[in-house]
Amino acid sequence: MESIKTWNINLNGLLAILELAREKEMDKIFFPSTIAVFGKTTPRINTPQDVPLLPTTVYGMSKSTGELWCNYYFQRYGVDVRSLRYPGIIGWQSLPAGGTTDYAVEIYHEALKNGKYECFLAENTRLPMMYMDDAIKATIDLMSAPKEDIHVRYGYNLAAMSFSPAEIAQEIKKHIPNFEITYKPDFRQDIAASWTESIDDSKARSDWKWKPDFDLEKMTIDMLSHLS
Ligand SMILES: NC(=O)c1ccc[n+]([C@@H]2O[C@H](COP(=O)([O-])OP(=O)(O)OC[C@H]3O[C@@H](n4cnc5c(N)ncnc54)[C@H](O)[C@@H]3O)[C@@H](O)[C@H]2O)c1
Repeated sequence: MESIKTWNINLNGLLAILELAREKEMDKIFFPSTIAVFGKTTPRINTPQDVPLLPTTVYGMSKSTGELWCNYYFQRYGVDVRSLRYPGIIGWQSLPAGGTTDYAVEIYHEALKNGKYECFLAENTRLPMMYMDDAIKATIDLMSAPKEDIHVRYGYNLAAMSFSPAEIAQEIKKHIPNFEITYKPDFRQDIAASWTESIDDSKARSDWKWKPDFDLEKMTIDMLSHLS
């Protein structure tokens, strides 16, 4: 069953790594967490670091449980494990794979290829997003930070920008004036509605000086120039 497979890969894969790190006294471990740990009981705007986590997907359940295991291995065994709650990641290097935030990758490909895009989320669904360059920078910055600066051993909240399908379409229109977007929400609309709109990442900013380089405008210029 798909959901059991998701759990096995995400959670049991992490446990194997944490155990190896403990046994072999490995230097540092990274765990990629996600905004999918949030759920309907999480405050949606400027979501703080420490909030109720009641994810509605097996993906989110496996990641929020993974965060607890990371915290446990640090506290119990001193494993230097570090983690980020990535928002939706947007990049030109790989093709979208059907995830809930992947509309924001597909839209650039379709805008350039066909001049139009049918979006699987509703027009005003705002979600936190980040350009790949910033995701890489954040990961390297976190992993290079001195151990004593790391105060969160589950997933750090991490933010760069938040936008809706209508807002990204508007930005694309500045470069491709005839671009058209239509909306046909599917099952991913419910998942998106259970996540938060914007993230308070002040812990990352104060602990290891996180600061993004890309906003929607700059990302759109870069995406379109690489993809075309
Ligand atoms: N892309 C996003 O927007 C996003 C957002 C939040 C969190 N994340 C997390 O970041 C991580 C990377 O995501 P991505 O989008 O780069 O995914 P991806 O699909 O591009 O890469 C996943 C990698 O995992 C490997 N993999 C899959 N099953 C495996 C298995 N059983 N054993 C070993 N390797 C296996 C794949 O070969 C691939 O190289 C994931 O943990 C994902 O949950 C991604």
